[in-house]
Amino acid sequence: MDHLLVTGGAGFIGANFVRRVLATRPGTRITVLDALTYAGNRASLGDVAHRIRFVVGDVVDRELVDRLVGEADAVVHFAAESHVDNSLHDPGTFLRTNVEGTFSVLEAVRRHDRRLHHVSTDEVFGSLPGEGGQRFTELSRFDPSSPYSATKAASDLLVGAWVRSYGVRATISHCANNYGPYQNVEKFLPRQITNVLRGRRPRLYGAGANVREWTHVDDHNDAVLLILAGGVVGETYLVGSGAEWSNRDLLALTLRILGRPADDFDTVPDRPGHDLRYACDSRKIRRELGWRPRHPDLHAGLAATVDWYRRNEWWWGPQKAATERRYAAAGR
Ligand code: NAD
Ligand code: DAU
Repeated sequence: MDHLLVTGGAGFIGANFVRRVLATRPGTRITVLDALTYAGNRASLGDVAHRIRFVVGDVVDRELVDRLVGEADAVVHFAAESHVDNSLHDPGTFLRTNVEGTFSVLEAVRRHDRRLHHVSTDEVFGSLPGEGGQRFTELSRFDPSSPYSATKAASDLLVGAWVRSYGVRATISHCANNYGPYQNVEKFLPRQITNVLRGRRPRLYGAGANVREWTHVDDHNDAVLLILAGGVVGETYLVGSGAEWSNRDLLALTLRILGRPADDFDTVPDRPGHDLRYACDSRKIRRELGWRPRHPDLHAGLAATVDWYRRNEWWWGPQKAATERRYAAAGR
């Protein structure tokens, strides 16, 4: 994999992926393709900009994607609209980027016979019951609840069909909720951390009983690299740390790390169609590819993330007011 094309490389996970590849595989050439939507931030790659090629462009642009794919050895496809709340208000953008964008990548890798890794989410499987300890597996059926997860499921189905019909060399991963540096302040943890840093109270949807499995972004990206190197074409892999937390408990931990009382937050109206619980059975990638989270301790990882947001207001500050205006308009 001498030359990687990374779509969505200016977003949260994509930028951390680029940084990780540069740190651990310094000989790899990287081209980033990113449309720099509100979620893309060139500053996330500012200090490594001289080590990569950055192309500002739309993943739906078939001609551009075809040219870039032809120049690379492999493609890691992160580019997507990623926020559930936004998908409830503007589903059309999600359909375009997540479905048509993946179609465009698939047609290019088919034409040039390039290896593809498609980054998906555990949200495509819908919601688990709160009790009983069930987990999603690679065999779970798709049952998406939101426009976001429905478009991700659609893109996964396209990838599977291109593998079977055209022999495209693709793999898929479904990861649980990520956290770490460079995550947009619209997402749960950065929103609450930066609220506190700005003297605002955090906002909890509903009763906060929803459960998510939190995986450090570097652990997710290690999984992607392992799959690229040793994953079996046509296979899917579930990735999750096992660290399940209710939103209420995770908010209490975040407040404790920030030195605030555990009840120093407001509750706001719940998200419509809000999935109750996600949890991944990641035994397959652990057994077959030797993946292990290097950040299994959520408390330590979260404390480091809080510290990162404390030290990097220059990065998140410019997004904060507009994000909160969008939430206020939605009553959250
Ligand atoms: P993000 O919203 O932070 O970043 C998305 C990036 O894609 C941005 O840089 C944006 O500018 C770019 N982009 C959007 N539309 C584009 C277009 N039309 N053309 C080119 N670039 C475009 O998202 P993220 O949280 O980094 O997620 C990355 C991928 O990982 C997504 O596919 C998402 O579904 C998946 N995923 C995310 C999580 C998570 O917890 N954040 C977990 C599992 C899977
Ligand atoms: O599971 C993987 C998914 O995780 C990814 O596919 C998505 O791209 C990513 O955004 C994330 O989706 P969630 O909807 O789980 O993440 P979000 O950060 O939006 O919310 C996490 C939980 O916190 C969810 O139950 C809603 C709740 N929440 C969110 C916000 C923004 C709040 O209680 N308050 C908030 O202010």
